[in-house]
Amino acid sequence: MGPKKYTGKDGKEFVIRLAEPGDFKESIATFTEVSREKIYLNTEEPSPDILEVWSERWKHNGTNMMFCVAQREGKLTGGLVLTPYSRSPKTAHVMNLGMWLVKEHRGKGMGNALMDYALEWAGQAQGIRKIVLGVWNTNMRAIALYNKFGFHIEGCHRNIAKIQGRLADEILMACDL
Ligand SMILES: CC(C)(COP(=O)(O)OP(=O)(O)OC[C@H]1O[C@@H](n2cnc3c(N)ncnc32)[C@H](O)[C@@H]1OP(=O)(O)O)[C@@H](O)C(=O)NCCC(=O)NCCS
Repeated sequence: MGPKKYTGKDGKEFVIRLAEPGDFKESIATFTEVSREKIYLNTEEPSPDILEVWSERWKHNGTNMMFCVAQREGKLTGGLVLTPYSRSPKTAHVMNLGMWLVKEHRGKGMGNALMDYALEWAGQAQGIRKIVLGVWNTNMRAIALYNKFGFHIEGCHRNIAKIQGRLADEILMACDL
């Protein structure tokens, strides 16, 4: 799938496109920045070999799994990944979704655009019937976004994470394609 242009809530244009090898370093920097906030993602500090891991994992980006990035004024601001739910053939029709944007670029509509791009890709890909994700019950913005794009709640792990000293639930959401 090729790049798609969007206009943000502040009127500025940005692009969503498949990540290329040349993007990995900058993407990892955005992912690391969001991880280190220690609020939204499960990862708090990416492993030191993340560049090798991502380079290997995303060698065939867009074929059986997908990593797209948001780019505004030449700068990467975050990304979205769709990865297999498990290695089992039993769940071959299921993808897991993860996404992040650096703080200064949240609330501008890039989350909407990443979801739009990813769901279009998943709709065109062969054999994907379901997308699942986990989100802390404290993350109202993300939950609102997922609801807007047709995700519903399928379950919950209570008190599974401690975020800034408080226990939080993981809400399990899914979208059937
Ligand atoms: C979650 C995230 C990707 C969303 O992207 P974003 O660009 O900030 O979101 P958008 O501006 O595109 O849209 C968010 C929507 O939630 C709504 N929203 C924002 N705060 C809200 C709140 N507290 N309660 C309810 N809805 C809220 C917005 O109005 C918007 O809806 P709209 O498009 O109908 O106006 C981004 O905020 C982010 O990266 N957060 C940190 C990392 C993270 O939480 N990742 C997901 C982990 S599961």
